[in-house]
Amino acid sequence: MTITVIGTGFVGVVTSAVFASFGHRVFGLDIDEGKIAKLNKGKVPFFEPDLDTLVAQGLQSGRLVFTTEYELAVPDSDIVVIAVGTPSATDGTADLKFVLAAAKQMSACLQPDTIVAVKSTVPPGTNEKVRSVIEDETDVSFSVVSLPEFLKEGSAVSDTLNPDRVVIGANEEKVIDTLLKLHEPMRGKKIIVSPESAQMAKYTANAYLAQRITFINQIANLCEKNGAHIEDVIQAIGADARIGSHYWYPGLGYGGSCFPKDVKELAAYARSIGEGEGLLVKIDELNDKRISQKLGEFDKAVGGFKDKTVAVLGLSFKKNTNDMREAPSLKVIPYLKEQGAIVKAFDPKVREEVEQHFGKIFLGEDVYETVQDAQVVILLVEWDELVQLDLQKLKEITKSPHIFIDTRNQYDPAKMRHLGFSYIGIGNP
Ligand code: UGA
Repeated sequence: MTITVIGTGFVGVVTSAVFASFGHRVFGLDIDEGKIAKLNKGKVPFFEPDLDTLVAQGLQSGRLVFTTEYELAVPDSDIVVIAVGTPSATDGTADLKFVLAAAKQMSACLQPDTIVAVKSTVPPGTNEKVRSVIEDETDVSFSVVSLPEFLKEGSAVSDTLNPDRVVIGANEEKVIDTLLKLHEPMRGKKIIVSPESAQMAKYTANAYLAQRITFINQIANLCEKNGAHIEDVIQAIGADARIGSHYWYPGLGYGGSCFPKDVKELAAYARSIGEGEGLLVKIDELNDKRISQKLGEFDKAVGGFKDKTVAVLGLSFKKNTNDMREAPSLKVIPYLKEQGAIVKAFDPKVREEVEQHFGKIFLGEDVYETVQDAQVVILLVEWDELVQLDLQKLKEITKSPHIFIDTRNQYDPAKMRHLGFSYIGIGNP
């Protein structure tokens, strides 16, 4: 098959490279000429494990081509995937301007019976808008379907190759057969539903996971007051098959480019169709104020950050990515600076953007250089190298009062205290 994927953001590049690896001819299309030129040289504009290798293989095979030209890509394509961004509009709903612009631009080049697959996260009703934009420009027959994406940053390639499920939102049998064929090499269960159900499944999955994190963070707050250990509570509840033990890690709240936006969008969508948005708004509100609440508590616990040297470890929103969208560091570092702390920072992958976000701060080349002489160490992200620290060395090179704030509960509180650290975790006494 020949496939065009419009949008060379995170989802677009991964999707293009994976489909090319299945033996399809793929055009990755974007209006950003600079980005396309770099991609054609094999330069992926963000860090994602294994993606550069997959892109290089695709380019080398000749099956993967990045282009800015709709006229080159779309006329040959059996399937055109829309994977452009959907930033939130001012009223909180998904702004569809890029989705509809892509629809309009492809329409002049569409061949009869092309499948237009919307992969961007959009609310029910969007496919009709896409259809209407295309119908205004052309008389050829085409189908509009939904193909929501469930990959996670940091494990995007393996998630796409081995997804838990592939959700195909389509109604016509012939179209469903083609899409099943396209996804055949993926191991996950194939679930065929209507486009509306596929779109709701995407928002529901993200909103549910976001509320799960918010919920466990609330329980962690209680544990901090009553002597219970959140990790023990998680172990105990996780044994119940109805609840399960995955995706229960407490911390400073959820971040990234998806959960914060999607929870807000689902709430706005509920409002727009006259439904209550109560729970969704509450999840968003609780998550939004969580970091500042925890920072206030940490400030008290350390006896004030003012004039203390604080080493912040992990600047991305989670491990194995250099994506900083809604990363905890974006709130933590400005707060520490405001309090008058001397901030040092380290991240295995985030470097160029540091000054732009935080102004002039010390950015260490390695973790031990960063923690040298720090009185407080704050672990924000569980990068592998940050959760395997040589604790003896850490104790020797940090300064009294040797406070370790572990926002991801990666270290054993008893062991840390035994080594002489003043240890602060999440949901522990
Ligand atoms: C999320 C979903 O997990 C994907 O299924 C979805 O496809 C994607 O959004 C999307 O809509 O594009 P992602 O944002 O890459 O993926 O990252 P997650 O690993 O889900 O983490 C999201 C946030 O929740 C991070 O800030 C993470 O630190 C936090 N988190 C996650 C917790 O605080 N506790 C947990 O137990 C898990």
